[in-house]
Amino acid sequence: MRKQKKVKDSYVIMTELVLPNDTNTLHNLMGGRLLHWMDIVSAIAAQKHSNRIVVTASVDNVSFSESIKLGNVVTLEANVTRAFNSSMEVHIVVNAEDIPSGKRFKSNEAYFTFVAVDQLGNPIDVPESIPETEEEIHHYERALQRRQLRLVLAGRMKLSDAPELMTIFDIKESKE
Ligand SMILES: CC(C)(COP(=O)(O)OP(=O)(O)OC[C@H]1O[C@@H](n2cnc3c(N)ncnc32)[C@H](O)[C@@H]1OP(=O)(O)O)[C@@H](O)C(=O)NCCC(=O)NCCS
Repeated sequence: MRKQKKVKDSYVIMTELVLPNDTNTLHNLMGGRLLHWMDIVSAIAAQKHSNRIVVTASVDNVSFSESIKLGNVVTLEANVTRAFNSSMEVHIVVNAEDIPSGKRFKSNEAYFTFVAVDQLGNPIDVPESIPETEEEIHHYERALQRRQLRLVLAGRMKLSDAPELMTIFDIKESKE
């Protein structure tokens, strides 16, 4: 039987202080630096779930709505939402805080996909993920549609092989 692991066992929190070398000429955190931190925190979550070496397979849409300033404290929280065969979807939430003023805001949210690999870099199956809380179950259930969407967009899956995705767009399967 396939091994099972609880979603909560993959939770990771990472805290960073925005230093001058992390910023652009406007003294705002550079997007690339934030993506780097998001990649690290989510890779650790995927490693905790799989106990394997993992590689980033894809990064879903990431947008930057409010700038994070020099001196802000950035907190990144990540957990595996759902494991498939060798791949795992990881949800990342980024919050920023200006400690002197007490201002805290959510900066980003994203989904990254990691694949567990063996020593030769070949994909290897990971344990099943077991969601327990209402929020974990919500993310788990929706993960299937997100997986289908990213694989269709990456040209790795035909829309006709993505029935759960088609229901979002109200697409009926062709009978031909
Ligand atoms: C990710 C990688 C291991 C997939 O290898 P592959 O030979 O294409 O393997 P498969 O087709 O068997 O797919 C393996 C898994 O990856 C998933 N996958 C592949 N491409 C994907 C993509 N673009 N988005 C999401 N998942 C993807 C597949 O869905 C499959 O998941 P499953 O096992 O849970 O069903 C391989 O493409 C790789 O090593 N890429 C480079 C990774 C890397 O260097 N990352 C850092 C980039 S800077």
